[in-house]
Amino acid sequence: MRHLMSPLDFSVEELEKLLDLAQDIEANREKYAHACAGKKLATLFYEPSTRTRLSHEAAMLNLGGSVLGFSSADSSSASKGESVSDTIRTVSCYADICAMRHPKEGAPMVACQHSSIPVINAGDGGHQHPTQTLTDLLTIRSLKGRLNNMTIGLCGDLKFGRTVHSLINALVRYEGIRFVLISPEELRLPEYIRHDVLDKNQIPYEEVVRLEDAMPSLDILYMTRVQKERFFNEEDYVRMKDFYILDKEKMKLAPEDMYVLHPLPRVNEISVEVDSDPRAAYFRQVQYGVYVRMALILTLLDIHVD
Ligand code: CP
Repeated sequence: MRHLMSPLDFSVEELEKLLDLAQDIEANREKYAHACAGKKLATLFYEPSTRTRLSHEAAMLNLGGSVLGFSSADSSSASKGESVSDTIRTVSCYADICAMRHPKEGAPMVACQHSSIPVINAGDGGHQHPTQTLTDLLTIRSLKGRLNNMTIGLCGDLKFGRTVHSLINALVRYEGIRFVLISPEELRLPEYIRHDVLDKNQIPYEEVVRLEDAMPSLDILYMTRVQKERFFNEEDYVRMKDFYILDKEKMKLAPEDMYVLHPLPRVNEISVEVDSDPRAAYFRQVQYGVYVRMALILTLLDIHVD
């Protein structure tokens, strides 16, 4: 039985296969419409979500399966003090696969150690968000035709943004990747990722504060919101929250073939006037998230469709 805790749980070859499957699903939706008939997905969300929960549910429904679950700790027995390990033992009796989001780093890992069904980490604290990474990889590969030889700008809250941490871990395995880390000093990428992931893999990167300075050299600009829920005090969040606002003027500095991605939700960091720019790819990214989660469910359940 396989789980998905980190993007590194799949080798590069396995990832290629998964992305190929997602692209086949995109092109042949009908072929997969009953692939999970009789199967159930449980979504165990201890933290708010729109895309991750609903896209897992849409993915299972598109595959002909059904869904059950809870969308907040308050509406589950976690509010009465039930442990993650007892919850997953229980849910293993109801479902064939589950996706779990939790505010505590490592909670999905605890779940998979006590589970008899595959567990998908749907985001754990400031740690990892592997299904967002699969979404990002599929989006980049679909739009640019490759995952290697690229300059990726990561902008915003690089300290708490788990989507950025997961994406860096996944991309360092490809040839010719270079990062531009765009953040205020207080929200720099954590040292353990700079040293243990970037330096160890000899990945070139530079750190800049001004978005304008980075724009002309980028193939992909990955914007992120400042993670309000991870700040210890409101004052710091208010000071940081509008540090970056991507608007039409800044987009003029970017190459014609640069794409803007964002895991969403956005707050103010991308002005709505950018949405009509053909390089704004964040809502296409949402759609790719459904195809890749369909491919993931099939892979973890070891279901093959021919
Ligand atoms: N991208 C993402 O994780 O969005 P949600 O918080 O809405 O699930």
